[in-house]
Amino acid sequence: MGRSETRIAGKEGCMTSADLKTGIVPATTEALAGELARLLSPAAVVRVREPLAKRTTLRVGGPADVYAEPGGEADLRVMVRFAAERRLPLLVLGRGSNLLVRDGGWRGLVVSLAHPCFCAIELTEEGGRLRCGGGARLKAVANFAKQHSLGGLEFLEGIPGSLGGALRMNAGAMGSSIFDRVISVRFMDLAGVTGESAPGQLGVGYRHCPGLRDRIVLDAVLQGAPAPREEIEERMNQYNRKRWSTQPAAPSAGCMFKNPAGIPAGRLIEELGLKGTRIGGARISLEHGNFIVNEGGATARDVCRLIELIRERARAERGVELETEVEMVGSDE
Ligand code: EPU
Repeated sequence: MGRSETRIAGKEGCMTSADLKTGIVPATTEALAGELARLLSPAAVVRVREPLAKRTTLRVGGPADVYAEPGGEADLRVMVRFAAERRLPLLVLGRGSNLLVRDGGWRGLVVSLAHPCFCAIELTEEGGRLRCGGGARLKAVANFAKQHSLGGLEFLEGIPGSLGGALRMNAGAMGSSIFDRVISVRFMDLAGVTGESAPGQLGVGYRHCPGLRDRIVLDAVLQGAPAPREEIEERMNQYNRKRWSTQPAAPSAGCMFKNPAGIPAGRLIEELGLKGTRIGGARISLEHGNFIVNEGGATARDVCRLIELIRERARAERGVELETEVEMVGSDE
């Protein structure tokens, strides 16, 4: 299919005659993007064939057929309904810090809550609580909390993600996870209906939150613990030092695998003698075995081959089934 006539694909990856019978009219990417743009407010952004590599921390992967930033909740509702009606696969992008986009990119619609209206952080009426937008950076949440002498959120400072992405996978660091601090989450489902849940209703576990799989986080209320600002600052510095001394600075998606029962994945990979292994432009970090770094020019295929190599060796030599923590999305070509 030529670049200028790329079609938006259905769920199975290509438009079929059955799709035609069900009334989905094939359209060029440009026509679909134009149609979507006309339904949105002037604050929204719509682009075609938007490169996604630059929107992920690992910096690999192909483009999105259509990429859109809603200018508010009404735009977001239009987008999810548009995707549902056209059966366009929908990917909601956070800050791309736990994401591996395959080299073929995303056949469908990618939505990013980058507009400032989704990134607000404010104190609530109740003491010690923050309401933060789903697009807010975790670093900004941690710094806002520090400025208001609220502790307990220091561990978020070094996680290069957005609040929505962090909630979706219950991200964590330094012995804490985001849901340790969540009071409630407001979301929109894929039919465009909004709702609010307490953590107990979302099935939260280690790097896992099934209740948010098919929902988009609009905002959440987090609980801070009053503490002197200097103490918060010192804790942040301490976490930073630990991070810089144990984790690589090169582009990566953070830890590639969830820690299996019994042994941290990084130590297991070190014990298997795999640290430093390179395929193409990707390498298993020498600093931390659970990181795969892009040393420049890596493809998603390079990274996926390293992932498979690690999984095979862990299975064959230690009987351990490693599960990726990083979300892998998109098509191979
Ligand atoms: N270790 C090794 N070799 C290595 C890496 C680690 O022997 O190459 C050992 C360490 O010495 C330590 C143990 O394994 O005894 C655990 O390592 P570390 O303290 O680095 O923590 P981790 O379990 O590997 C977790 C999170 C990180 C988070 C750190 C710091 C997971 C999968 N990872 O890593 O989160 O930053 O703790 O709190 O739970 C992420 O989720 O992307 C991520 C980076």
